[in-house]
Amino acid sequence: MRIIVTGGAGFIGSNFLTLFTPRYPEHLFINVDKLTYAANLFSVQDVACLPNYRFEQVDIADQAAVDRLFRKYEPDLVVHFAAESHVDRSIHGPADFIRTNVMGTFHLLEACRATWGQRRDVLFHHVSTDEVYGSLASGAFTENSRYDPSSPYAASKAASDHLVRAYYKTFGVPVKITNCSNNYGPRQFPEKLIPFMLLCALEGKPLPLYGNGLNVRDWLYVEDHCEAIWTVIERGKVGETYNIGGNSEKTNLEVVQTICRLLAEETGRPEGEFVRLITFVPDRPGHDLRYAMDTSKIRYELGWSPRENFLSGLRKTIRWYLHNHTWVEQVKTGEYQRWVQTHYEGRGESGATTELVGQKRGVG
Ligand code: NAD
Ligand code: DAU
Repeated sequence: MRIIVTGGAGFIGSNFLTLFTPRYPEHLFINVDKLTYAANLFSVQDVACLPNYRFEQVDIADQAAVDRLFRKYEPDLVVHFAAESHVDRSIHGPADFIRTNVMGTFHLLEACRATWGQRRDVLFHHVSTDEVYGSLASGAFTENSRYDPSSPYAASKAASDHLVRAYYKTFGVPVKITNCSNNYGPRQFPEKLIPFMLLCALEGKPLPLYGNGLNVRDWLYVEDHCEAIWTVIERGKVGETYNIGGNSEKTNLEVVQTICRLLAEETGRPEGEFVRLITFVPDRPGHDLRYAMDTSKIRYELGWSPRENFLSGLRKTIRWYLHNHTWVEQVKTGEYQRWVQTHYEGRGESGATTELVGQKRGVG
């Protein structure tokens, strides 16, 4: 197969390529990425030299560029990760989220329709999120839960999911959708909770928890997500949706406390040195209280289950960040610095952070 992987220089896409490019030498993997702030080609360095790997710098919101790409490769499978993915940024500036997540998905679907015609031995696999279902009071989201997105990010992903289903129902484009809970692991840009907190803790900066820190997320190690996607590609039913999650619900406070404990164990520094940095800051607007996924369908129909639990996955993640200085130093320039500035204000002469911004202002 010729496989287009959009967003392959981002967090989950790069883990996907790192796992599957060497595992399937008979397939050609084409990493298609615009290279936004969230991308890092260094994240795919382990596979970039393989003969079954290609890279194409393409903006999926550019229909002409997408069409050229499809004419060049005539893919059999598209695995669609590319997106603007950070909720806080979507609050500050939603436009890029509509452009990439909605229009970009639309352009890819149009290219699939034009390229594939009546072919049924092809697939558009859409990678989506649990955030389309909104906030959960009790129980867990199933594949039949009502869409109720809260943030512009979640709304843009919901729109893309609807487009993908519409192209299946109306035009017969073979599609599958997976909606997954919060991922963590190596190569995640440190604007997201876990890498942000662990890098701040190492530098002695405050650890800003939104609201009371009691919002709940269901955490999944990134390689488990990638294996789930591959399972659905191989064995899932065309036109169907599969929920993916770690059955690992934690409050944000629990997550940060666990990071502090594991960092102390891994570095030999006192746990209290990290815990004292925990600070409560005003809440994210529209902050969903709780997400949890019912993963019965993928478990019982397709036989997937996660390999890592939260502690084992988090320990692996912390070790990766402690041992990959070059990657960390690369992403800690430019955009990351601007991101950190939005969390803090009032730096002293020494550069030590003395005061947290009351309301975060976003980036850029
Ligand atoms: P990420 O922000 O780390 O990476 C996104 C990648 O997409 C980047 O490499 C970026 O350069 C690329 N990209 C952005 N706009 C583009 C455009 N216009 N054209 C081409 N490439 C573009 O995101 P991630 O965390 O790896 O998420 C990947 C996908 O998984 C997203 O669709 C996201 O909605 C979904 N998802 C993420 C999580 C999570 O916890 N991170 C959970 C569930 C679903
Ligand atoms: O649920 C899946 C989603 O998970 C994905 O679709 C998104 O792409 C991904 O970004 C993630 O969204 P979240 O908003 O849940 O992730 P984030 O890491 O931004 O925040 C996790 C929780 O931690 C959330 O409740 C907000 C809180 N938080 C986050 C940051 C960055 C804080 O309390 N402080 C922070 O500094």
